Amino acid sequence: MDAVTPSLEVAGLAFAYPDGHQALFGVDFTIGRGERVALLGPNGAGKTTLVLHLNGILSGGTGTVTVAGLPVGKRHMAEIRRRVGIVFQDPDDQLFMPTVREDVAFGPAAAGMKGAELEERVRTALERVGMEAFADRPPHHLSFGQRRRVAVATVLAMEPEILVLDEPSSNLDPASRRELGDILRSLDVTVLMVTHDLPYALELCPRSLVLSEGVIAADGKTGELLSDDELMRTHRLELPFGFDPRSVTMGA
Ligand SMILES: Nc1ncnc2c1ncn2[C@@H]1O[C@H](COP(=O)(O)OP(=O)(O)OP(=O)(O)O)[C@@H](O)[C@H]1O
Ligand SMILES: [Mg+2]
Repeated sequence: MDAVTPSLEVAGLAFAYPDGHQALFGVDFTIGRGERVALLGPNGAGKTTLVLHLNGILSGGTGTVTVAGLPVGKRHMAEIRRRVGIVFQDPDDQLFMPTVREDVAFGPAAAGMKGAELEERVRTALERVGMEAFADRPPHHLSFGQRRRVAVATVLAMEPEILVLDEPSSNLDPASRRELGDILRSLDVTVLMVTHDLPYALELCPRSLVLSEGVIAADGKTGELLSDDELMRTHRLELPFGFDPRSVTMGA
């Protein structure tokens, strides 16, 4: 894949759930290779609905999603699932094997990896999220935050083209939240991160999209969007008490 083909292109994406509720009304944006972008927006804005379109879990609306030049659709589903790693909002939607190790091995094994290479892949992914000591435990015996970290490992193990995280910092203790941020910053991968944690967005993502009522309401530098009081109010985005985005200097 060449350097100029974007990791993700979403064009004219509209979608209504089977009960008739329309969640997306024509969403357009492009994310270049290696960008880290936050997807912000109030409850019910359509963020998760959008995320579920990125690897074809939801489909059947109008518009297109393209991952590194490959259209998301039934034809290329296996390849798309390899390229797009989604950490779901609820880790219990992601973990279903008897042990943590098997959950992390599942994706790479399905893609044909085995033996020592697979073991090494699993070990590295668990180590990155600080969960290597939990490899033989059943996921359902872990705390929520531990399950989230394992869910991140299942996706890291796939070495995806684009990593999509739906509220990755929710229910993480402050140290785990920071450690996950360090991991995301250290990866040489395109990241789209849905979050209500606006300081986290500012810290990790130079660019943000605001999704509101099923359309992209803003697309720009995270610091500028968070400093736009009118925009923030209109889309029910609130900074934590005492947090001033203007006083934060972004790392490289
Ligand atoms: N399975 C479903 N059937 C019908 N409507 C749904 C379904 N799932 C979500 N919706 C509706 O679609 C809209 C968008 O929901 P979505 O979960 O994408 O929002 P969100 O931006 O992820 O919100 P949150 O910040 O609370 O996670 C909401 O109005 C929601 O009620
Ligand atoms: Mg959601």
